[in-house]
Amino acid sequence: MNICCIGAGYVGGTTMAIIAQRCPRVQTTIVDMNAARIAAWNSDALPVYEPGLEEIIREVRGRNLIFSTDIAGAIKRADLIFVCVNTPTKTYGLGAGRAADLRYIESVARTIAEHAGSPKIIVEKSTIPVKTAESISAILAANTRGIRFQVLSNPEFLAEGTAIGDLQNPDRVLIGGERTPEGEAAVKTLAEIYASWVPRERIITTSLWSSELSKLVANAFLAQRISSINAISAVCEATGADIDEVAHVIGRDSRIGPKFLKASIGFGGSCFQKDILNLVYLCDHFGLSEVAAYWEHVVRMNDHQKKRFSTRIVKALFNTVAEKKIAILGFAFKKNTNDVRESPAIAVCRDLLAEHARLSVYDPKVTPEDIRRELADAADSRLTIARTAYEACEGAHAIALLTEWDEFKALDFARIFASMPKPAFVFDGRNILDLPKLRTLGFQASGIGR
Ligand code: UDX
Ligand code: ADP
Repeated sequence: MNICCIGAGYVGGTTMAIIAQRCPRVQTTIVDMNAARIAAWNSDALPVYEPGLEEIIREVRGRNLIFSTDIAGAIKRADLIFVCVNTPTKTYGLGAGRAADLRYIESVARTIAEHAGSPKIIVEKSTIPVKTAESISAILAANTRGIRFQVLSNPEFLAEGTAIGDLQNPDRVLIGGERTPEGEAAVKTLAEIYASWVPRERIITTSLWSSELSKLVANAFLAQRISSINAISAVCEATGADIDEVAHVIGRDSRIGPKFLKASIGFGGSCFQKDILNLVYLCDHFGLSEVAAYWEHVVRMNDHQKKRFSTRIVKALFNTVAEKKIAILGFAFKKNTNDVRESPAIAVCRDLLAEHARLSVYDPKVTPEDIRRELADAADSRLTIARTAYEACEGAHAIALLTEWDEFKALDFARIFASMPKPAFVFDGRNILDLPKLRTLGFQASGIGR
């Protein structure tokens, strides 16, 4: 079996690493049109930071996993092609701000059609709107002079930061295919690969559209829980209740469950917002405006939460942060990743820069280039990138903790307090710090909903 994966990003890189590790007799090739990214995957400095990934790449790279820019050659050789390209939200034209930009998917379909030469199974892994598989099939059918392709939907449920564990021990693997003998045979081929390490009962097969929709709905439900708890955090701040206590109590109801109830400055990442907006667009398209509005509010609540946080900082600092130094601890959208896509830190930093604050940003894994790029049009000489948390906090009027990196819990806050003008403020946007202890040290300390 020969597998090709088009797209060497977070999803393609981690998924193929696990397939190569768990299926030593399967030959896998990851291709990308971005030559610098392929070079990075072939070097010691991988383009993706994910705990445990480096060790696996070292084991399988050159054995049964290769990274290459020869897209045509890899397509020709493959029996099965995973499509793992990015599908950002459209920024222009019809559906701008909501619909997915499918140009990368379409260009991949055309490239496959051009180079395939023989029948293949195409597996879409990218998060895509419902009925995208149909478009891929149509492009292939119109361009391949009678060669038959089967298109499957196999959405990825890994979360960044825990991707290796999620892939090795998934709650479920979902495979959607056409309900025809050829479709079912293709589903079976893909299921066999996963069955090398995933128990059979966790491999769920559905129709194509159920599979595509399930991915959007899973992410919409997860994001909805975060917006729900974040909405209640505002009530806690108004009333003096503690959001972590409330979350603990409601999470103990086995019907609700304890996960995804951590109040925060808001959710980020490449999936939640994009998938909900895809769902909203789909609902609008089918005239379901009330359903669309219902889900859209999950995103609006998330924007509100980020705004509430930056406003709280400005208000606490006597309504002016102009020329004050604020230390930003953490820029990634969550801990254990170097990914900044849709990170809530971006909106908070932009708000503070708009108030003319001076920001000193420290993140253990995000590159200075990524931070500067995300704040490019908002930042000027007021933005500096620090090499340590202590450097970021030195002389700062306030600390805003925006990513829950473990190392922030172990900081010497007495030392930090001594280096700051008074009153010294801490705003914990992830509720990981011991606020009573910080107050004992002299800080004005607050968190989300506490
Ligand atoms: C998500 C889904 O979990 C995954 O199944 C899907 O395949 C891709 O999208 P990811 O975005 O990588 O994964 O990370 P996730 O752990 O879901 O966190 C998303 C955001 O929500 C982060 O910004 C995180 O900090 C935030 N979050 C998460 C909270 O604010 N509170 C929580 O309780 C959980
Ligand atoms: P994800 O988080 O979904 O993996 P990324 O943006 O990290 O998304 O990765 C997607 C990758 O797909 C990028 O490296 C991009 O260069 C690659 N890509 C996009 N379009 C094509 C294409 N037509 N051919 C090959 N690679 C592509």
